[in-house]
Amino acid sequence: MASLTGKTVVVTGASSGIGKSIALTLAREGASVFLAGRDPARTKATADEIVAAGGKATAEAFDVTDIDRLQGFVAKAAKAGDGLHVMVNAAGLEFPGALLKGDPRRWKEVLDTNVVAVAVGSQAAVKAMRAAKSEGHIVTISSIASKRADGGFYSASKIAVNFIMETLRAELENEPIRAVTILPGAVGTNFARNFPAEFVNGFAKAAGIDAEVRQGDVLPDAVFDTLNERAAAILAKPQDIADAVLYAIQQPITLNISEITVRPGKSITLPSD
Ligand SMILES: NC(=O)c1ccc[n+]([C@@H]2O[C@H](COP(=O)([O-])OP(=O)(O)OC[C@H]3O[C@@H](n4cnc5c(N)ncnc54)[C@H](OP(=O)(O)O)[C@@H]3O)[C@@H](O)[C@H]2O)c1
Repeated sequence: MASLTGKTVVVTGASSGIGKSIALTLAREGASVFLAGRDPARTKATADEIVAAGGKATAEAFDVTDIDRLQGFVAKAAKAGDGLHVMVNAAGLEFPGALLKGDPRRWKEVLDTNVVAVAVGSQAAVKAMRAAKSEGHIVTISSIASKRADGGFYSASKIAVNFIMETLRAELENEPIRAVTILPGAVGTNFARNFPAEFVNGFAKAAGIDAEVRQGDVLPDAVFDTLNERAAAILAKPQDIADAVLYAIQQPITLNISEITVRPGKSITLPSD
């Protein structure tokens, strides 16, 4: 029997990249996945892929900065799934560049998405886990940017989220609920959608992909499959991050795999001004 059969999982950010790979991976392990994204078509596409492979998935598209929608979605998943076992906070974004050149309105968006929504989703998940008296894991996708001061406001948001997860871990020590923080290095996904087009096009060209991407474009998975193969030395794959999540949640509940860093062999420099 697959290791997550009978388990209910919520994954945010599941319409793309890392969250999508986590949703597909946990579904393959037998979990019933309640997945959320922002773009309705791509969110549904992840659910369709799971169902086509024989898995169980329910999709809803909404903005995670909408506190009521996020709380409602987690509660709905727990009710439909007879409890909640894993909450994965993967939704996130970056507007790269130096702090002193940043747009304060963007800072609010990053803070609400990368930090506040993680706390909201995690709080709602713990409430559901406690109500069902089930063992559970709260998993958040942070970043190695939280270890550096050159990532502008994004680094600060990921430092904040690490601290929230460490606080959760401590608050939950006497309960069978574990807090897991995953810190990826560079992963080939649509995460670069807000990066300068020259950077993205130059990067793609160096990997032999002739793309003419505009800032804000969301690219199909096939582009990243090629990119991640060709640039494997400097990019981890979404599946590598999903494998780390699966490892952490499969450990005995008496253990807390509190932090895992997954980075490619070589580092790259991201746009910083
Ligand atoms: N890729 C990397 O190099 C890297 C490295 C370290 C950490 N991370 C972290 O990994 C996580 C996933 O990023 P990714 O690489 O998979 O990027 P991605 O392909 O751009 O996926 C981001 C996901 O977050 C969702 N999202 C963003 N803002 C949202 C909002 N306000 N409400 C609801 N959903 C929202 C997106 O939804 P839509 O697409 O539907 O808008 C998408 O599903 C993020 O937390 C990111 O900080 C990424």
